Amino acid sequence: MPRLHVVSASTRPTSSGRPLAAWVAAFAAGRAEFATTLIDLAEVALPFLDEPAHPAEGRYIHGHTKAWSATVAAADCFVFVMPMYNGGFSAPLKNAIDFLHQEWQGKPVGLISYSAGTSGGAPAVEMIQPVLRRVGLRPARHTLSIPGIEERTGPYGSFPGTADLAAGVAAVLDEVAGLVADEPAAV
Ligand SMILES: Cc1cc2nc3c(=O)[nH]c(=O)nc-3n(C[C@H](O)[C@H](O)[C@H](O)COP(=O)(O)O)c2cc1C
Repeated sequence: MPRLHVVSASTRPTSSGRPLAAWVAAFAAGRAEFATTLIDLAEVALPFLDEPAHPAEGRYIHGHTKAWSATVAAADCFVFVMPMYNGGFSAPLKNAIDFLHQEWQGKPVGLISYSAGTSGGAPAVEMIQPVLRRVGLRPARHTLSIPGIEERTGPYGSFPGTADLAAGVAAVLDEVAGLVADEPAAV
């Protein structure tokens, strides 16, 4: 069974997306198709990249990098639940990607974005896709962008999913599962 890590990409203590990420993880777990784990970048708590060697060398000296490496290496595929900030993807997500290299290789990733405005963060999805390919991730073509996130959930509230959102998440998960089956991850 593929090991799926649903990554909540906001590190804000009042993140509106965190309940969404928890809902996505629960939805994925409910399909019994993946062994699903929810990863909260706020709990991972990485500093800005502080490794002396290039990540591709895998010569990590810091405990936080070794722990993040082990977390990412333990997954076969990912779903990033990602906010849009100022028209792009968030700095903590880019930083978390940049920390590693080999651990991402060949692994499928589904993208679910959200924003306060009407775009649902679709521009952030467009911007991050070349970055993901650069580190060897395989982004699914199906994506989901959720507008008006702040009206959908409170800071520490639950996320009330809808049938439309469930269908959108299912489409992303279907493609991620297909990509895992197509080509086993290299790590
Ligand atoms: C630094 C920052 C920049 C933002 N920029 C945008 C934006 O460009 N477009 C938009 O619709 N919402 C924008 N927002 C609103 C966020 O999409 C919204 O607050 C969302 O809840 C952020 O995700 P988070 O709460 O999980 O961190 C911005 C929020 C922050 C904190």
